[in-house]
Amino acid sequence: MLQRPRRNRKSEVIRQMVQETHVSAANLIFPLFIVEGSNQKTEVSSMPGIFRYSIDNLLREVESCMELGLKSFDLFPNIEEQLKDRLATESHREGSLYLRAIAEVKKHFPEACVITDVAMDPYSSDGHDGIVDNGIILNDETLEVLGKMALAHAQAGADIIAPSDMMDGRVGYIRNVLDENGFAHVSIMSYTAKYASAFYGPFRDALNSAPKFGDKKTYQMNPANIQEALIEARLDEEEGADFLMVKPGLPYLDVIRLLKENTELPIAAYNVSGEYAMVKAAVRNGWLNEQRAVTEVLTSLRRAGATAILTYHAKEVLLNKWL
Ligand code: PBG
Repeated sequence: MLQRPRRNRKSEVIRQMVQETHVSAANLIFPLFIVEGSNQKTEVSSMPGIFRYSIDNLLREVESCMELGLKSFDLFPNIEEQLKDRLATESHREGSLYLRAIAEVKKHFPEACVITDVAMDPYSSDGHDGIVDNGIILNDETLEVLGKMALAHAQAGADIIAPSDMMDGRVGYIRNVLDENGFAHVSIMSYTAKYASAFYGPFRDALNSAPKFGDKKTYQMNPANIQEALIEARLDEEEGADFLMVKPGLPYLDVIRLLKENTELPIAAYNVSGEYAMVKAAVRNGWLNEQRAVTEVLTSLRRAGATAILTYHAKEVLLNKWL
């Protein structure tokens, strides 16, 4: 045998020398859930180790992440039921929980990167990402709400706007609103290939944002499709996206790879709530080694082509020095 691949695996030093993929704190984005009130920190039952924070505790959490070198955050609000309506007006109301949270984080930690989620579902009495009319999700009318939301986030200090709604044309619409209002410097991380996935369940528990009727299949993508991801990617690029996101992560490594091969833009992967819950459940049962499972998941997302990874594991990985 002339070729013996095992020679390059024979010691830790050589294995590290030839390692192709690395994960570092700079690649990680930590999603954080926010709730109204003060001194609140309640665990999401289907996401052990993940909490909903009131703004005061959110600032403490951001501070401890910053000390670990974790500096990018994606914020999601849990909105009280009585504030929800058909048009998600709470999503762009001055003084709302979410807008206060963005401003407070940027005021205390100007060097942090604050990513904001643009979609109607946390604020919608229908629990959908668009305006509902007779059971139909309206596209172009929804864009107006998304534009107001994105502008409010930018005014509050958001660094990156992340539309997660999957309406057609939203990236271009939001880009235009931002540019016309003096926010050309604010980036857009588009949820490009967002699938109608079973893996969002724990997230909807965290925000109490599940659809009140039906499902999201008329706007989120069919898990059976990949060519369609190329159409979404092309449109998002043409409309001015700065990042293309694939979501969920682990079941869609092929989609990450395909987009990577077809774009010059950085790819983000969302290692979603259900993926986190699966690992945690197995670890709690003693069925998986947590450090090894988590680092393998994150490394695999990077290997597939993701530059940035949104993951609920971000803080524990750095706290435990697993990388
Ligand atoms: C909603 C949104 C969802 C997630 C992020 N933004 C859920 C959904 O589309 O129903 C899911 C994130 C996760 O599961 O971790 N616009």
